[in-house]
This record gives sequence, structure tokens and C-alpha cells, in this order.
Amino acid sequence: MAVFNQVDFDNHEQVVFCSDKESGLRAIIAVHNTNLGPAVGGCRMWDYASDDDAVVDALRLSKGMTYKNAVARLPFGGGKSVIIGNAKEIKSEQLFRAFGRQLERLNGSYYSAEDVNITCGDVAIMNKETNYVLGLEGKSGNPSPFTAYGTFLGIKAALQHQRGHQDLTGIKVAVQGLGAVAYSLCKYLHEAGATLFVTDINQVAIDRVVNDFAATAVSIDEIYDLDVDVYAPCALGATVNDATIARIKATIIAGCANNQLAESRHGEIIRKKGILYAPDYVINAGGIINVYYETAPEGYSAEASNKHVEGIFNTLTEIFARSEKEQKSTHLIADELAQEIIKNGL
Ligand SMILES: NC(=O)c1ccc[n+]([C@@H]2O[C@H](COP(=O)([O-])OP(=O)(O)OC[C@H]3O[C@@H](n4cnc5c(N)ncnc54)[C@H](O)[C@@H]3O)[C@@H](O)[C@H]2O)c1
Repeated sequence: MAVFNQVDFDNHEQVVFCSDKESGLRAIIAVHNTNLGPAVGGCRMWDYASDDDAVVDALRLSKGMTYKNAVARLPFGGGKSVIIGNAKEIKSEQLFRAFGRQLERLNGSYYSAEDVNITCGDVAIMNKETNYVLGLEGKSGNPSPFTAYGTFLGIKAALQHQRGHQDLTGIKVAVQGLGAVAYSLCKYLHEAGATLFVTDINQVAIDRVVNDFAATAVSIDEIYDLDVDVYAPCALGATVNDATIARIKATIIAGCANNQLAESRHGEIIRKKGILYAPDYVINAGGIINVYYETAPEGYSAEASNKHVEGIFNTLTEIFARSEKEQKSTHLIADELAQEIIKNGL
């Protein structure tokens, strides 16, 4: 298995392969960069087709966290961990304790948290063996409302840049996915006067948003074809792709989902089409910002966290301006901004 000459290897500081015979743990912890502080990023449990796939995922996700934390101006580096296996079959107290002991061995160079298939309860078990975990129940709490607030402000920043105003009255927004973040986002948008078109695979989630915020429900596939101002991807990744770009009529793409562009080239295609894209890891940083306040020297404060989340508006405004000036897609400008911050400090 190649690591150092993987395309996704980007001078990661540490890539640790962990195993524990008793619990069957097999995990990879990738610490990408700690220039700005200890690496922070969640732990994902996934039934990877191969160990190589798990390595690639850990390398990519950890680099993504370095960039996300830097642009959010947090004193955190980037890291991520993956536990290999089917979440329905392998979860056990023994396994999470073994993983906690592996975190402890890294002595604080990496802090873990929830991610796909890893719950607050799982992290609480890791916490029996180590303090190098964040986002625990009863501390900074549920990050989703903070992610929603940042996403709402990101939509306003996009409107301001593209249309010269932030007034959401009558602005039509297509929201794809109505989970934890999107519900709060829809509330903000509705209260600000936006008209909502929504979809989800879960009828209960749809009914709630239709009832609470006078939204219009559309089918899963129809969401791309709507004559709206904003398309807000809030469910899956890779929804901005060759097939959907041809259909999207919105002139703004701004939502909370991770990895919205199927490939990097799609960022340039949508820019040339006149669509303003709020880079995903910039607009959806509210959750990680809130987690940071769990570690802040002055102690957790929702007020301080919200104030920091408000910085997402200015960061996006800067990215949009640079993108226009340099005629380069917003996601590449975001990467450049991250690299500058990592090199020069916060
Ligand atoms: N929770 C956070 O604070 C946070 C932070 C950063 C990024 N994100 C990202 O934002 C997105 C949403 O996160 P969440 O915490 O609200 O998740 P969630 O699981 O609560 O909600 C996701 C919703 O998407 C729906 N969905 C799944 N497939 C769909 C499809 N094909 N079409 C339409 N809807 C579909 C699900 O039914 C669910 O209601 C994810 O991509 C997540 O990685 C979340």
C-alpha cells in the first residue's frame, strides 16, 4: 500500500495505523498539519472496500480540516481518523476504548470528535481513556444551529456580492435535505422573508418544514430544475456535477453540505456560467467554530461562538471579491486563503 506517493499525500505530518486484537479495531489517524495548533477533526466509521480507500479518505479529510480550520481562523490544525468496518456490526465499548487509548498515545497532537457513523455516545466511550476528544454532550453541545447560522450569513454575503443587497424578501431558495442543519437554516430564511422550496428522502422532515415555514415540497430530482435564486445543498456531497450544472437555474450555490463539487473543475464551470459558489468548507464552519469555544481559555460561551461565526460573512465577501478580481473560481481562492493563513499564522 502506497502512502508517501499517493496523490492525496500532502506532506501529512503523521499517518498512524492502529490495531487492537481484542476489540478488532483497525483505524487510521491522519494528522495533516499542526502549524496553527493541535489537529482537530472527527472520526468516521466506514466499511471501506479496501485499506487503500481508507488511507485515501483519511488523507483527504485531514487536509480538508487543515483548510477549514485555517479559513475559520481557529487555532487548530487539521486531522481526521477513520475506523474501518461496518458500523452496524463492529461497534463495541471495547473498540471505542481501544481507539481512545490510541488517541491518548498521540498526546494531544490530534483531537477527535463525531463524524459519519460516530455518535456523541461513541465519543463519550473514547473519553473514558483520553481527554483528546471534543464535541461531547454537555459541553459545546449540538453544532448544527451554529452551522445553520453561518450558512444563513453566507447566503446573505452571496446576495450582497451578486445583487448589492442582503434583503431576503421574496428570494427563492431551494433547500436539498432537511436534517439538523437545514431545519434551522429554513427557520432563519423564512423569518427573513425568503420563499422556500424543499426536498428530502424523509417525509417527516419535509412535513415539518412545510408546516413550520410555509415551504413548498418538491420531488428529490426536481430540486435542480427550479427557477430559484439560491440552491442550498444540505444533504449529500457531489451534487454539483456535469449532470446537475446543466439544470441548475439558481445564480447562487450556498449550502451546508460537505464536498459539494463533484470535481474541482466544476468550480470553474459554474463560475463561467455566472453562478456564485460559496465554498463549502468556508460557509459550513459554524459547527467547528462552536466546538473551538469548548477549548477557549475563557471557557465556552455561545455568545462568543456566534460572534466568531459571524466572521463567515466577511471571509466569504473577501473570497468573492478576490474571485472576481482574479477571474478564478471561489473554491480555489478559498484554498489559497487557507494556505496563506497556514503559512503566515492567524
Ligand atoms: N451538523 C453540522 O454541524 C455540520 C457541519 C458541517 C457540515 N455539515 C454537513 O451538512 C450536511 C447536513 O448535515 P446534518 O447534520 O444536517 O445531517 P442530517 O443527517 O441531520 O441531515 C441530512 C438530511 O439529508 C437528507 N437526505 C439524504 N439523502 C438525500 C437526498 N438524496 N436528497 C435529499 N435529501 C436527502 C436526510 O434524510 C436528512 O434529513 C452534511 O453534508 C454534513 O456533512 C454538517
